[in-house]
Amino acid sequence: MGRLLMKLSLWFAIVLIQTYGYKGCLEKERIGLLEFKSFIKSVNLYDKEEIFISWVDDKTSDCCGWERVKCNAATGRVIELSLNSSVQFNKFGYLTLNLSLFHPFDELLILDLSSNFFQDCQENKVYDGFRSLKRLKFLDLAFNFFNASLLPCLNTLTSLTTLNLGSNSMGEGLTLAKKGLANLTNLKTLYLRHNLVSQGFTNLTGLEVLDLGENEINGCPSSLGLANLTNLKTLYLDYSQINCSLASQGFANLKSLEILDLGFNGINGSLSSSGICELKNLVEVDLRRNNFDGQLPKCLTNLTYLKVLVLSSNQLNGYLPPSIGDMKSLEYLDLRENNFEGLFSLSSLANQSKLEEVYLLGSTNIQVYVYFFWQAMTYDIIFPINYVD
Ligand SMILES: *[C@@H]1O[C@H](CO)[C@@H](O)[C@H](O)[C@H]1NC(C)=O
Ligand SMILES: *[C@@H]1O[C@H](CO)[C@@H](O)[C@H](O)[C@H]1NC(C)=O
Ligand SMILES: *[C@@H]1O[C@H](CO)[C@@H](O)[C@H](O)[C@H]1NC(C)=O
Ligand SMILES: *[C@@H]1O[C@H](CO)[C@@H](O)[C@H](O)[C@H]1NC(C)=O
Ligand SMILES: *[C@@H]1O[C@H](CO)[C@@H](O)[C@H](O)[C@H]1NC(C)=O
Ligand SMILES: *[C@@H]1O[C@H](CO)[C@@H](O)[C@H](O)[C@H]1NC(C)=O
Ligand SMILES: *[C@@H]1O[C@H](CO)[C@@H](O)[C@H](O)[C@H]1NC(C)=O
Ligand SMILES: *[C@@H]1O[C@H](CO)[C@@H](O)[C@H](O)[C@H]1NC(C)=O
Ligand SMILES: *[C@@H]1O[C@H](CO)[C@@H](O)[C@H](O)[C@H]1NC(C)=O
Ligand SMILES: *[C@@H]1O[C@H](CO)[C@@H](O)[C@H](O)[C@H]1NC(C)=O
Repeated sequence: MGRLLMKLSLWFAIVLIQTYGYKGCLEKERIGLLEFKSFIKSVNLYDKEEIFISWVDDKTSDCCGWERVKCNAATGRVIELSLNSSVQFNKFGYLTLNLSLFHPFDELLILDLSSNFFQDCQENKVYDGFRSLKRLKFLDLAFNFFNASLLPCLNTLTSLTTLNLGSNSMGEGLTLAKKGLANLTNLKTLYLRHNLVSQGFTNLTGLEVLDLGENEINGCPSSLGLANLTNLKTLYLDYSQINCSLASQGFANLKSLEILDLGFNGINGSLSSSGICELKNLVEVDLRRNNFDGQLPKCLTNLTYLKVLVLSSNQLNGYLPPSIGDMKSLEYLDLRENNFEGLFSLSSLANQSKLEEVYLLGSTNIQVYVYFFWQAMTYDIIFPINYVD
């Protein structure tokens, strides 16, 4: 009888383990998610039943199967949380992000908290804020109302490689490095589009991608400290009210740059003094709608990887050098709305094997519109050229 009881209880224990022990989802993570749900319910003005509907308080429900949650199939630990747009109409207008809510998720790799009306963050010393998120690589806080006071909350996220702070209120005396971003030594990609940033990047030397479009540089970018960011591969600084020349801004230091977008600013000075020819790895350059003047520099032919060159709506002048034809990697060339003069001989492009689109329309003294799909070795294409005296 005793043996039977023992056998039975062993069997019962095995069944118990199978029912509860091998759930995809850890109990502390299940509870953590329910806590986040109750926070959302407590701040939303309307009871948004359609949000987190699968997040039910039922021990038999596997939280790895819940909406907006992804687990590692092998470990059953939560690795991705898409908590974007959880808050819409809320009772308070602006909300505080309580970082302690994420304490249970210490295997988390991706956290999306964008579009949630967060204005500031709070570190609970007991839980030590994000300190548990040792493995977090990707954090999206875009479309909130954070200012620089957020940054001390993030400075322990040492595994972070990508941080999206787009469309917040970062700026006004912001010195990002001092506020703790410099401690994120693995950070490679930083999105700060559509903020109020004007300075402070000197120490973020590991950055490879920096999006500073739609900020308020209001003057010259030297205060940004970009010249030290020698690992940058991609730089967006479009629509940022830059209104000086690039000659002494240190752009020539950014030798790794592949994508450069400085469009829609007031940058003046000649293209040849901008340092652009030093950036030998450039693949895409967009300088449209600035005040660049002078001639198209011959040294552009040294940019042997350049595929896309957009220089439209500037004050460039002189003859178009036939050396454009030597830019063998070029696929897209837009020179519209400049002050070029003379007749540009399209035959100089005849050796181009890759050029697919060329725009020259709207220059004062030449008006040429060309669109063609170049087929190498086919030299008898008739271009739809439209010269105007
Ligand atoms: C959250 O972001 C992801 C990725 O951008 C998107 O697919 C999803 O629709 C968003 N969810 C909500 C509720 O907006
Ligand atoms: C923040 O979250 C933690 C963990 O859930 C909780 O203990 C703490 O009370 C919360 N703080 C506030 C102010 O809600
Ligand atoms: C951030 O905004 C808060 C109000 O939400 C304000 O009290 C604080 O001074 C601001 N901090 C910075 C660095 O701009
Ligand atoms: C920035 O780097 C310089 C030189 O490496 C160092 O002296 C300074 O303390 C750093 N500043 C911050 C805020 O980390
Ligand atoms: C950066 O890390 C160092 C060393 O861990 C620490 O002393 C310093 O306070 C941190 N800086 C910021 C701004 O958090
Ligand atoms: C940034 O570059 C300047 C000039 O090259 C240099 O004096 C300074 O120490 C650099 N700062 C950092 C943090 O590397
Ligand atoms: C350039 O921007 C600065 C700061 O906004 C302003 O003071 C200056 O007048 C501007 N210069 C021109 C030529 O627009
Ligand atoms: C660029 O514009 C500024 C402000 O108008 C002016 O001071 C400066 O001399 C200009 N630089 C060049 C190279 O034209
Ligand atoms: C191209 O680069 C080489 C080496 O850097 C330089 O000697 C040459 O003058 C450059 N060509 C032009 C047209 O600038
Ligand atoms: C095209 O290339 C050939 C051989 O490299 C050269 O002889 C010819 O002058 C070039 N034509 C033009 C228009 O550049």
